[in-house]
Amino acid sequence: KEIVEAPIIIIGSGYGGAVSALRLCEAGKKVVLLEMGLNWEKAGIPFSNLLKPGKSSAWLKKKTIAPFMNIFSLTPFTGTLDRLDFDNINIWVGRGVGGGSLVNGGMAVTPKEDYFKEVFPNLDAERFYNHYFPLVREELKVNVIDEQFLKDCPYYKFTRVGEEEAHKAGFKTMRVPNVYDFKYMEKEFRNEVPRSALNTEVIYGNNHGKNSLDKTYLKKAMDTGNLEILDLHKVDHIKLNDDKSYTLNAQQIDTSGNVITDKVFHCKKLILSAGTMGTLQLLLRSNAVNNLPIHEKIGKNWGNNGNFMTGRNWVKPLSGGTGSKQSTIPVGGIDNWDDKEHPFFTEIAPLPMGMDVATALYLLINRVDKKGEVAYDKATQMLKLNWDESNTVNMRQNAKYFVRKMNKANGGTRSHFLFNNGFGADICYHPLGGCVLGEATNEFGKLRDHDHLYVLDGSLIPGTIGVNPFVTITAIAEYCIENLIKQNEFA
Ligand code: FDA
Repeated sequence: KEIVEAPIIIIGSGYGGAVSALRLCEAGKKVVLLEMGLNWEKAGIPFSNLLKPGKSSAWLKKKTIAPFMNIFSLTPFTGTLDRLDFDNINIWVGRGVGGGSLVNGGMAVTPKEDYFKEVFPNLDAERFYNHYFPLVREELKVNVIDEQFLKDCPYYKFTRVGEEEAHKAGFKTMRVPNVYDFKYMEKEFRNEVPRSALNTEVIYGNNHGKNSLDKTYLKKAMDTGNLEILDLHKVDHIKLNDDKSYTLNAQQIDTSGNVITDKVFHCKKLILSAGTMGTLQLLLRSNAVNNLPIHEKIGKNWGNNGNFMTGRNWVKPLSGGTGSKQSTIPVGGIDNWDDKEHPFFTEIAPLPMGMDVATALYLLINRVDKKGEVAYDKATQMLKLNWDESNTVNMRQNAKYFVRKMNKANGGTRSHFLFNNGFGADICYHPLGGCVLGEATNEFGKLRDHDHLYVLDGSLIPGTIGVNPFVTITAIAEYCIENLIKQNEFA
C-alpha cells in the first residue's frame, strides 16, 4: 500500500479543523486536511432545497433525513446531512468541506459570560470576551438583520408572530446574529440576485448568502498555499508508532460511497477535528482495533447541549399562522436563562414547508443536569451512547412550562403534528463533550497520554454551553491553536 507522508494532518474540516488549518498555515506549516465529505465547490454540484431534495440532501441514504420532512426517496450520494441513530437520541451532523457550517442555521451566538465561566472555570473569561469572541465573529462574518427589513418582510412573519406571542406570555426576546449575509437576503427579496434563504435552502446547503467555512477560514487557509484538502477521504483508525508518530488507515470513496482505494497516511502531528461524534469514534475505535492509548476521561462528560424541540399548533389554524413563505434563517430567540426555576433559551425556528401549517417550532437549549457517556461496542463496532429519559428530565419540564405559558396567553395546543407527544427529546443538533478541555486533554487540547495528538472541536466543551455552539467551538479552537503554536508544538 502507498504511504502518504505529511508532517501535520488534520481530520475534519468543521470549525475546529478550519481554525487549526488557517493558523498553522499562516505560521508557515504545510498541512494536509482529510475530510470524508465532498468538496462541493470543487465538484460544482448545486445544493438542493428542502422542497426538492437531491444529491446534497443526505449522506448515502435512500430517503431524506431532515426532521419532519423525511418523506422523499433518494439515490444514495455523499450528501451534506447525516444522522447518527442511537437508542434514545438521533444526532444530525454535517458532512463535506466545511463540516457543520454547510448544513447549520448559521445562528452565531456568544454564550452568556456567567455561564461560560461556570462551564470553563479555568479559562480567562475576560480574554475570551475581549479577544477570542470578537475575533471569531469577525472571521465568521457575523451580522444582524435590519429591524425594518424584519418588520416588512413576509418571510419573517414566523419571527414577528413568535416574538409578539412571547411578549404576551411575559417572556423576553432577543435578536440572534447569523453568518448569513442579510444584505444579500434583502437583494434576494427584491429579486436582484438568486434566492437561497428565501428559497428553502439551508439544511442541505446554501448556494448563496451563507458564509460557511469554505468561504471564510478554509478559503483564507487555502490562499496561504500551505493547505491541501483531500475530500472523500474517510479515516477509519489510527495507530501510535514506537517513534510516537501516527499511522492512519483511510479509505478514499466515490460519491456513491464505494471504496476507490485504501490509503495509509503517516504523520508526526495529528489533530482530530472530526466533530464530537467523529472524534470519539476515531479514538474509541482505534483503541479497540489496535490499542491506541486513551485516557479514562475519553467519552465522559458528554451532552446534547440541552437540545429539546417542541412546537405549537393554533386551535383555529387560519386565525394564527406563521406564513406560507418562510426564510430558513432564524433571527429571533426567547431568553429565559435567568429564570432560576426554568432556565432555557429557545430559537424561534422556521418551518418552511411551502404552506401555512399554522405551527410554530422551537428549539430549546437547556442546562444539562445529568451528563451522558459515549463508549465503543466491539461486537457491533459502533459507538454506544449512555443517554435516556433521565438525562432530559429538566428539559422536558422547561418545554412543558414554556408551551403551557405560551398557549395560555395566545391560544394553541402542543404540536402533535410535529412530534408524537408534542416533544422532540430525541432530536440533537449540538452534540458536545467527551474529550473535555483540561480533563481528557491538557489546557490547550493536547490529549493526555500522547505527545503529538490533539483534539480541536466540539468535543472539548463539556456537554453544554447554553446557546448554539459554533461561536464557542471556534473561539476555543483559536485559543488552543494559538497557545499550541506558541509552545512550539508544531516546530
Ligand atoms: P463539525 O461536525 O462541524 O465537522 C467535523 C467534520 O469532520 C465533518 O465535516 C465530518 O464529515 C468530518 N469527519 C468526521 N469523521 C471523519 C473521519 N473519520 N474521516 C474524515 N473526516 C471525518 N450551531 C450553531 O452555533 N448555530 C446554528 O444555527 C446551528 N444549527 C445547526 C443545524 C443543524 C441541522 C446541525 C446538524 C447543527 C447545527 N449547529 C448549529 C451545530 C454546529 O453545526 C456544530 O456544533 C458544529 O458544526 C461542530 O463543529 P466541529 O468543529 O466540532 O465539527
